[in-house]
Amino acid sequence: MELTDILILSFAFTFVYFWWRRWSITGGGPKNLPPGPPGWPLVGNLFQVILQRRHFIYVVRDLREKYGPIFTMQMGQRTLIIVTDANLIHEALIQRGSLFASRPADSPIRLIFSMGKCAINSAEYGPLWRTLRRNFVTEMINPLRIKQCGWIRKWAMEAHMKRLRKEAQENGFVEVMSNCRLTICSILICLCFGAKISEDRIKSIESILKDVMLITTPKLPDFLPVLTPLFGRQVKEAKELRKTQLELLFPLIRSRKAFVESNGKSGGPEMVSPIGAAYLDSLFSLDVPGRGSLGEEELVTLVSEVISAGTDTSATALEWALMHLVMNQDIQEKLYREIVECVGKDGVILESDVEKMSYLGAVVKETFRRHPPSHFVLSHAATQETELGGYTIPADASVEFYTAWLTENPDMWEDPNEFRPERFLNGDGVGVDLTGTKAVKMMPFGIGRRICPAWTLGVLHINLLLAKMVHAFKWLPVPNAPPDPTETFAFTIVMKNPLKAVILPRSI
Ligand code: HEM
Repeated sequence: MELTDILILSFAFTFVYFWWRRWSITGGGPKNLPPGPPGWPLVGNLFQVILQRRHFIYVVRDLREKYGPIFTMQMGQRTLIIVTDANLIHEALIQRGSLFASRPADSPIRLIFSMGKCAINSAEYGPLWRTLRRNFVTEMINPLRIKQCGWIRKWAMEAHMKRLRKEAQENGFVEVMSNCRLTICSILICLCFGAKISEDRIKSIESILKDVMLITTPKLPDFLPVLTPLFGRQVKEAKELRKTQLELLFPLIRSRKAFVESNGKSGGPEMVSPIGAAYLDSLFSLDVPGRGSLGEEELVTLVSEVISAGTDTSATALEWALMHLVMNQDIQEKLYREIVECVGKDGVILESDVEKMSYLGAVVKETFRRHPPSHFVLSHAATQETELGGYTIPADASVEFYTAWLTENPDMWEDPNEFRPERFLNGDGVGVDLTGTKAVKMMPFGIGRRICPAWTLGVLHINLLLAKMVHAFKWLPVPNAPPDPTETFAFTIVMKNPLKAVILPRSI
């Protein structure tokens, strides 16, 4: 080998060495990012995560043990800053709330469904988000409106109990998740469109919206946009799904519009809510900064987000709560006794009753603690480059708050893996503030500016359904098939094998 060959080879090795080092270090360096696992050149930690063949939440659970309160993951071209510590979460979302209240850029597929971020959950922190959120809060979930719409919940819950009875008679057991999803979805559809529609139509909407949620979860090209041309089929599928979603919801929007414009004279018999009481009615006349009045496609996006956001989260909580009641008959009995004490054996549970049931409240809170429907809140972004925990947070990074650790942390909760509702009555859960204003101990609904705007409505749906189901039936495991608490990701963290239970009418 000639001297020049040796020189060229040495130069090449040195170059590759430094190039590899530069690209494989995640965090630190002149950028002062939080530390993180070393990655591969160009793709960072992306393929390391993919090759693990398990969901991202489990990868993060392990990385937290190594990297602690705040760390960086370089996922292709996207920088993710993962925050796991209660104090840092409180600092970011409460003390410096407006700085961390934005959302990161959307993937091309998400943009199809969000109509260019025209939804409360995806809008950047600014006038569009403020207008949409304020309208939603004042028009759909102000306490007066929630009260006015009590008849919708009554109607949906009567149908729910009838369905459970029928299913139990036909199969010998009931499936919890599918029934709760259908009921909550029917309530939200009625709140949005002011319409009572057939069960088959509700099921179609529910199923399409679930597909939308799953298709918009992050995919490879979201991290490496250079690969987008190779994933043309996915974009095509997303456009077809969007078309189906529009075709399904346009008729309801048009009927409601006709109903409102004709002063209730046309629109069809399914339009049942008085004019002004449906969420859609407020959107027809909303003037949105930068967009003016909303088009039909934007209306589809806005009602879809509400139905999706409120269905899976609440149904997931109900399934986990009932799983524990089936597995622990003492807790179920204690809850039943509280309900009977409040309304009697044959009484009717009213919305005002569930507020008085402290054990019910403790069961629901313990369910959120032990099984938060999501292990992260939605992705946040800083409105400008800032710092957190002594590290730089770039404005274009996704800031991910890993909230599941808060309730798994043995320094914050005694025996955190145990399901013990009593902790909220006389233990380490007493006085916990779910809005995290003073301190953060659990945050199933997020905290700060982006806190779930409808969390009280979500809790009302859960309280009412749980109380009514336990009042009417004794819940037992299916013989030889006890509930399996293994979890899986389906947008929320659900039971891998959906809960089935035998139900015995209490009055027999
Ligand atoms: C028990 C049920 C519920 C749970 C556990 C839940 C949880 C959450 C969480 C964790 C967030 C994200 C917070 C963040 O990014 O920091 C959120 C946002 C949101 N939720 Fe809920 N939610 C529930 C019920 C509902 C219901 C019933 C609705 C509508 C009727 C709803 C509508 C929304 C909306 C529109 C946002 C976006 C807020 C924003 O970005 O400003 N949620 N929810």
